[in-house]
Amino acid sequence: MCGIVGYVGSQSALDVVMAGLKRLEYRGYDSAGVAVPADGGLATAKRAGKLVNLDKELSEHPLPAAATGIGHTRWATHGGPTDANAHPHLDNAGRVAVVHNGIIENFAPLRAELAERGHDLPSETDTEVVAHLLAEEFSGCADLAQAMRLVCRRLEGAFTLVAVHADAPDVVVGARRNSPLVVGVGEGEYFLASDVAAFIAHTRDAVELGQDQVVELSRDGVTVTGFDGTPADVRSYHVDWDASAAEKAGYASFMLKEIAEQPKAVADTLLGRVDGSGTLSLDEVRIPPGVLRETNKVVVIACGTAYHAGLIAKYAIEHWTRIPCEVELASEFRYRDPILDQQTLVVAISQSGETMDTLMALRHAREQGARVLAICNTNGSTIPRESDAVLYTHAGPEVAVASTKAFLTQLVACYLVALYLGQARGTKYGDEIRDVVRDLAGISGAVERVLGTMEPVRELARSLAHKDTVLFLGRHVGHPVALEGALKLKELAYMHAEGFAAGELKHGPIALIEEDLPVVVVAPSPRGRSVLHGKIVSNIQEIRARGARTVVIAEEGDEAVVPYADHLIRVPATPTLLQPLVATVPLQVFACELATARGNEVDQPRNLAKSVTVE
Ligand code: G6P
Repeated sequence: MCGIVGYVGSQSALDVVMAGLKRLEYRGYDSAGVAVPADGGLATAKRAGKLVNLDKELSEHPLPAAATGIGHTRWATHGGPTDANAHPHLDNAGRVAVVHNGIIENFAPLRAELAERGHDLPSETDTEVVAHLLAEEFSGCADLAQAMRLVCRRLEGAFTLVAVHADAPDVVVGARRNSPLVVGVGEGEYFLASDVAAFIAHTRDAVELGQDQVVELSRDGVTVTGFDGTPADVRSYHVDWDASAAEKAGYASFMLKEIAEQPKAVADTLLGRVDGSGTLSLDEVRIPPGVLRETNKVVVIACGTAYHAGLIAKYAIEHWTRIPCEVELASEFRYRDPILDQQTLVVAISQSGETMDTLMALRHAREQGARVLAICNTNGSTIPRESDAVLYTHAGPEVAVASTKAFLTQLVACYLVALYLGQARGTKYGDEIRDVVRDLAGISGAVERVLGTMEPVRELARSLAHKDTVLFLGRHVGHPVALEGALKLKELAYMHAEGFAAGELKHGPIALIEEDLPVVVVAPSPRGRSVLHGKIVSNIQEIRARGARTVVIAEEGDEAVVPYADHLIRVPATPTLLQPLVATVPLQVFACELATARGNEVDQPRNLAKSVTVE
């Protein structure tokens, strides 16, 4: 939530910062602002609404040229999305400007204290206090990094802060506690950003910042210290994707592009994980097999779409390893005093690696002695850094707020973890592992085929754009798929959408069925005369008898559903546990098209942000 950019170098800071903000707009789009030290003072511009408003403001009232600058795109927490609450925030003399991501929990007493000393704090934000405190500390030491360290020691909560001062015009200072901040290292130029996407067009060399660290950028280089001033050890890394991966590449939206990229994302996530003898080698998973053998419980924690991946993981983990597996919303986890010990493996799933609920849940798990394995798409982000082990998904950058390709790769990673656990515990042998990995490898092509047959789904979505409600039903792994289909529709189309376990229908939800209500049903494979399949065919008949308009997602060759499907969406046959990889895709396309038909902007749905860095 909130995107931050800082720059020191020889290019136009404003151009670099604005281009960076454009790439970070997925983090929030309530307002945007920039500040540059110029002509002995600070020049700033900020506007409520999307970045385009700020762009317009800057073309009408250009700021002076500068080679140092900061910028911010906001997801509002404290105070509405107004010009006055937009970042950067300044002290009363207008000498220091600060941008912030996170929540400063003790801002109220700090504000009162500053007001008592005669400061005027006109905005409603928690951020403004930092600008005033920085100004005070800077006047005592004339060192912006030292001033930042002193201020940070007084702050409570989660924050990334980036600041410039008119009296130190060649310096940008950043600080981080809990919220993300990475350094980009170019030739004679340096960047700070919430996400590498902001500077990937300039450099792919990055430095991770740790917890409670302050970084100073100047033309001479980068200095990192702890809040107490001691020099910090940092990790440098090379980003393995380039700027083109974060472009729309001719697609109307990032979401469409990311849906289309799924076959590659799935294949890339599998690449090099298994050898000829069927032995899985997950190099990044640094938990010794001996420790995994001792595991007697798996707990999956995640939020949003990643949580749905976790719900599906449970089926694979329990089936393949016979270890009990719980799945829990990360935001609920630590508040219910969960039972954890050294034999518990906690799997934290997060695309961004920055979701605060998931981070706090994993910290709680580690405090209780559990081992944490992260499944993550973002190299160097906080969740993998704080976990015992990580399995990276290789979806490439996901920009659209609603997750698509990351979800499919999270599923692949979950299957791999389940197999790996099975391998370590001896419940899965080389040939079985090889078979499943072969099936998984085939899924990439199956997703490609699904994508090639989506025109009727798009047509259907357009024809349903006027509806108020769509329900989704599934059984077994089809249930989380139904939940994900409903979530996509809520996020993108702002419609009432709900997913149910089809078996629960008769226990309440069936009362919702009325004439012509669209109900999407995810049918399991009929192969082996599956009991599950027979049950869902009955469920489809029950809702149809009550007037529902049925949209059935069924495997190719499944003829039993045909008489009861008002609309039939075919997906290739897959092993039951892997079906979510193909069955989810039409639901993503459906939601995207329906939202577009309703005139919604699919990449930036209202009220949402992609990286939720506050609890
Ligand atoms: C937000 C996004 C969702 C995402 C969830 C978890 O709510 O809008 O698309 O699934 O966060 O994000 P994570 O980065 O932890 O996977």
